[in-house]
Amino acid sequence: MSGPLVLAIESSCDETGIAVVEGGRRIHANVVASQTALHASAGGIVPEVAARAHLRWIVPVLDEALADAGVTPRDADAIAVTYGPGLAGSLLVGINFAKALALVHDRPLIGVNHLEGHLYAAWLLDPGEAEREEPVFPLVALIVSGGHTFLVEMTDHLTYRLLGQTVDDAAGEAFDKVGRLLGLSYPGGPAIQRAAEAATSRDAVFPRAWLPGTYDFSFSGLKTAARRIVDEARRAEGLDDPDVSLSGATTAELAFGFQDSVADVLVTKAIRAAEEIGARSIVLGGGVAANSVLRSRLAEAADARGVPLIVPRPGLCTDNGAMIGAAGARRFMAGERAGFDLDARPSLPLARPVVGAT
Ligand code: KG4
Ligand code: ZN
Repeated sequence: MSGPLVLAIESSCDETGIAVVEGGRRIHANVVASQTALHASAGGIVPEVAARAHLRWIVPVLDEALADAGVTPRDADAIAVTYGPGLAGSLLVGINFAKALALVHDRPLIGVNHLEGHLYAAWLLDPGEAEREEPVFPLVALIVSGGHTFLVEMTDHLTYRLLGQTVDDAAGEAFDKVGRLLGLSYPGGPAIQRAAEAATSRDAVFPRAWLPGTYDFSFSGLKTAARRIVDEARRAEGLDDPDVSLSGATTAELAFGFQDSVADVLVTKAIRAAEEIGARSIVLGGGVAANSVLRSRLAEAADARGVPLIVPRPGLCTDNGAMIGAAGARRFMAGERAGFDLDARPSLPLARPVVGAT
């Protein structure tokens, strides 16, 4: 493989990720320090705690990534960093660190949109992995995580058309909130998936917010319905004490019903979009893409239409530096450079980059 060697930094939320990626595809190193355990007791991410943890971990994560790849920052053709969207304090740690590296080692700086990082995870190859086909344009990508839920069309590199997005909660956020209602551990996504696997009854029916005529999503009504359904189930089991959990069987049934509703809406809209634009590939990404029911249903539906589905392995679906390196290389190759005035953009939308500007 050839192409630029990019040292990439991701710190937008609760993972400190640093990677070395060649040609926008081949991973040479990809180190992620996750803060999940740190935020578990709060049941969600505490921004102040997240920023401090990035500060604590960013140097050891860099050292490990450079050692894994066997390079120094001077070997990199560019330093890429996420500058939005995300938590301001967390973003600033990564941005300032990237600026310092770029300045000290005289390397160009590239600002990367975190959302396009999730899209470009579909291009990544692990260190020893055999070459495989790249995603083919036009493609439809469904990105579902704790912070984002959107459907986008890509007609070319760095060219995005937002088809739809959540109008309220992200899908992962809904998993986390309903996980808490069911008394499951944080994060709720993997816990709900595990609980649902044990379901023997599939009777619990959760609503679907179809938002007809749009590719937008809504999960807040589902969360409210989940609260009502959990309360009814608790009454049926005669549970007054809030510290006592529902029976395992009921928890499994409700976890299954909720997961079924989320997967149904996501898969239906993604497939409809793919059909409408004549997509030649479908990409699934973000932390919720780790969900086995969502993956298998989308795979089945894509397969039935003869459209290849690309889902990065779970470690590349959740936040990591490699995806920023993949997107950063594309921006670098397009001639884009960031100035040292690069600032955090907590609400940065997904849009085509302007060459030469930041
Ligand atoms: O992409 P990610 O690591 O961080 C964000 O950018 O948000 O996604 C984390 C989200 C959490 O909400 C978590 O509950 C969800 O992904 N998640 C899952 C699964 N694994 C992680 N949701 C459903 N099923 C899973 N197996
Ligand atoms: Zn993310």
